[in-house]
Amino acid sequence: MSDVVIKTEDLVHVYPHGGTRALDGVNLEINKGDVVSIIGQNGSGKTTLVRHFNGLLRPTSGKVYLMGEDTQQKNIADLSRQCGYVFQNPNHQIFCSTVRDELLVAPKNFKFTPEQAKQRLDAVVELMGIGNILDKHPMTLDYTTKKVITIASVLIFNPEVLILDEPTGGLDEVGRRMLSKVIQLVHSEGHTVIIISHDMDYVAENSSRVVMMAKAHILSDSTPDKIFLDADLCKLAQIEPPQISSLDMAISGRQSNVCLSVEDFVKRYAR
Ligand SMILES: Nc1ncnc2c1ncn2[C@@H]1O[C@H](COP(=O)(O)OP(=O)(O)O)[C@@H](O)[C@H]1O
Ligand SMILES: [Mg+2]
Repeated sequence: MSDVVIKTEDLVHVYPHGGTRALDGVNLEINKGDVVSIIGQNGSGKTTLVRHFNGLLRPTSGKVYLMGEDTQQKNIADLSRQCGYVFQNPNHQIFCSTVRDELLVAPKNFKFTPEQAKQRLDAVVELMGIGNILDKHPMTLDYTTKKVITIASVLIFNPEVLILDEPTGGLDEVGRRMLSKVIQLVHSEGHTVIIISHDMDYVAENSSRVVMMAKAHILSDSTPDKIFLDADLCKLAQIEPPQISSLDMAISGRQSNVCLSVEDFVKRYAR
């Protein structure tokens, strides 16, 4: 049986300001090594859900367990150390006046030794190819590079779970490819990755499991190909399947194993 990394039990969240019931009894288990995408319309509760994993939000009722421990017993520093959260908007996550200082915020907060901090800094700088901008002011960089910096500033402390909230929004093609590479690498090292996304092409290509949310509930929890084949479900959640999957379904009338990427499609149809 797989190790459960995150588990929610009847999780309810009501925002005190406005009284919105953003989560209404969510039961979810995420296993070690999952690469899971959370999809659903704006306002369906995706961000609210993942913010319970790193302690930014606390349940109104119900439970959240991280590595088997009730998060109610843990402080935000411990939770955010284990669940690294990359914000949707990099401008909300950048505070320092150089990229180097920005990357070193978490190692300082989490009391890494100077040697550990240097070793992790060198590793993420190499991974993300950002050695030439360490002395730059992050706010002078383009949007994709800022996003890369915020991802690096989380990867640097090597969290067990990496949570990316709308990671492809505003990213150019180079950024998208780098992000896919990072997700694969983090996954291959045995970590768990949670991606919130509106970008169905990206979801189909980069995740093995999809959790679909609508109106504060989980509507479905399955593989990308099963989710995108279910036209009624997609309609209910107002999700458009990836164009390449729709094209494959239209041509083949396939009822299972639908193409999830252009690469799949070319392999299947190339003569
Ligand atoms: N800080 C907040 N205060 C009050 N209501 C909020 C807050 N954040 C989100 N909400 C409301 O909670 C619901 C779920 O929001 P959210 O989790 O951000 O959805 P998603 O990430 O799926 O777009 C929405 O109705 C939203 O307006
Ligand atoms: Mg959101």
